[in-house]
Amino acid sequence: MHPMLNIAVKAARRAGNLIHRATDKIDLLTVTKKSHADFVSEVDRVAEQTIIETLLEAYPDHAILAEESGTQGESDYLWIIDPLDGTTNFLHGLPQFAVSIALQHKGLITQAVIYAPSSNELFTATRGRGAFLNDKRLRVTRRTQLSDSLIGTGFPYTRFEHLDAYMAILKDLMQKSAGLRRPGSAALDLAWTAAGRYDGFFETGLKPWDIAAGCLLVTEAGGMVSDLSGNDTYLETGHICAGNPDIHLQMLRVIAPHLTAGLKGK
Ligand code: IPD
Ligand code: CA
Ligand code: CA
Repeated sequence: MHPMLNIAVKAARRAGNLIHRATDKIDLLTVTKKSHADFVSEVDRVAEQTIIETLLEAYPDHAILAEESGTQGESDYLWIIDPLDGTTNFLHGLPQFAVSIALQHKGLITQAVIYAPSSNELFTATRGRGAFLNDKRLRVTRRTQLSDSLIGTGFPYTRFEHLDAYMAILKDLMQKSAGLRRPGSAALDLAWTAAGRYDGFFETGLKPWDIAAGCLLVTEAGGMVSDLSGNDTYLETGHICAGNPDIHLQMLRVIAPHLTAGLKGK
């Protein structure tokens, strides 16, 4: 395993164990509201600090972009961290949540870890070296027809500026796919696409920490990732479509007629 990935795995497991232990005492946690329907708990913050400490102990010169504490440092190496992706699930006792850590080097995502404490599943990828679930090599599905495909997504719930376009896409895909799922963690949605549990995934308005690690998992598993127009602005816009190459293309064709200026990317 690449040494930088090794450190990221150590950080993700530490945070994941901390989160897992907290699932027994959710009612006792201090929870604050960041904006409409956007909650953060002390667990998110402590998990984030644990990850940052672990990474900076090994690589003191590296920079950090983390959901709860923002940016620190300046370097060609940027760690992009979501300490707890799926906070709403976590706060309601639903087991679908994960720690997501990615390393961006000179603009390219090179290492990725997504760790799901409830299932003890560790998804990892290194650019050019494939994607893994625990020790098993991952491949996206080989399904070729959208009508046979299971598609993951995330509903808008904090900001609604793209809601009409999103609903039009959802309505169309609902009729053209074999089914849609909204489990509640974008990081795991992408990891599951890499693992062949879904054939494709799309969502609007995500943040870099939701998707940086998951995108590398999908591409290293032989899949495609783009924004909703088929271009590569997804880390900036947060509008994303991923899947096996056939299904990704067919999803983009379904999505295209519904794209508004705001969803087209740059
Ligand atoms: C959220 C989850 C969810 C997605 C949201 C994200 P958080 O992350 O990934 O699936 O639909 O857009 O914000 O807030 O739980 O870290
Ligand atoms: Ca997130
Ligand atoms: Ca989060």
